[in-house]
Amino acid sequence: MDKLRVGIVGSKFAATLHAECYRRNDKVQMVAAAALDDVEEFAARFGIRHTYADYRQMLSRDDIDAVSVCLPNFLHRDVTLAAARAKKHVICEKAMATTIAEAAEMLSACASEGVQLFYAEDWVFAPSLARMEQILAEGALGEILFVKAKETHNGTHSPFAKKKSTCGGGALIHLAVHPIGYVLHLLNVRENPVTEVTGVVSGGFQHNLVHKDFEVEDWSVGLLTFADGKRALVEGNYITVGGMDDRVEVYGSEGRILVNLTLGSNIEAYCRRGYGYAVEKADFTHGWTRPAVDEFHSLGYVSEINYFVDCILNGRQPKFGVSGAAGLACMRVVDALYRSAAERRTVEVEC
Ligand SMILES: NC(=O)c1ccc[n+]([C@@H]2O[C@H](COP(=O)([O-])OP(=O)(O)OC[C@H]3O[C@@H](n4cnc5c(N)ncnc54)[C@H](O)[C@@H]3O)[C@@H](O)[C@H]2O)c1
Repeated sequence: MDKLRVGIVGSKFAATLHAECYRRNDKVQMVAAAALDDVEEFAARFGIRHTYADYRQMLSRDDIDAVSVCLPNFLHRDVTLAAARAKKHVICEKAMATTIAEAAEMLSACASEGVQLFYAEDWVFAPSLARMEQILAEGALGEILFVKAKETHNGTHSPFAKKKSTCGGGALIHLAVHPIGYVLHLLNVRENPVTEVTGVVSGGFQHNLVHKDFEVEDWSVGLLTFADGKRALVEGNYITVGGMDDRVEVYGSEGRILVNLTLGSNIEAYCRRGYGYAVEKADFTHGWTRPAVDEFHSLGYVSEINYFVDCILNGRQPKFGVSGAAGLACMRVVDALYRSAAERRTVEVEC
């Protein structure tokens, strides 16, 4: 296979992330897109010739090798199972599903059909975090003791993310799943499992801090304890104004590292009139702003898609942090955090 021929399911935010990164990869041909709305406009923007309302019709094409699943979480399972049956490799957006059972089914369906399942946790490829990992690998921080990581912004653009039935939960599964996925990768959960977690979430509707119209929580924190005693504090919330604020902090016996993934641009602009776009979910562009240079790159999407393409073209298995197994492990942690929050106690987890 010289070129990877892809189909994209979805036409909006995540679909745009995937399509823009495929466009930058000369080993990819975007063949078709399927979505319920805006699919013609989406396809035209990226030069995709074939469009479908029903993704199953798209999956029946012989000239598609891999599929990007960029739909609301409650549809990830159905699309993945259908794609696996059609012998297409699957690149699935986070969160992997809405339940552990769905995620497990996705893994076994892809394994039994002999196709790869990739879990699109872009943070694993963010250049600033990759640089941080090089420094950690030198032992510069001594013994790692504690990691703090968060994704926060002012509220979701997607109507599907506001309901439990379509998202699986709120800010915890939708936003904190990034820091969860990243710390499982960073602290090597395969050899150093998470043993217990404590979660606290705002309860949705009137219990929320800001978004009283959301059925799901708009604020969440989780404390993860790993087998070797390391701890991680993860956070996801929709109460943060001023642009998406994604950070990772690592505390070691000999030092600490602070990474600002989203608001750390090296451009500072003061504009009385404002301009088109500064950073994801920022309200304004006037006054002082720090416009992102290239979020597709800085958040890891470009390298992530390049890596998946390379794995498929060369028949290589992905590293753990972006494998279906990692997506399932995240679901186990998310599920345990929700149980902990509901039962108001620390709970044990196996992942
Ligand atoms: N990695 C990231 O940083 C990131 C960012 C945003 C979203 N996501 C994930 O991507 C997924 C999609 O999120 P989004 O923000 O793009 O959602 P969205 O609400 O913006 O778009 C949803 C898309 O799903 C399509 N759709 C809905 N039901 C469908 C069906 N039955 N058949 C075909 N198409 C259907 C809609 O037409 C639309 O194109 C979610 O799992 C989300 O968690 C990941």
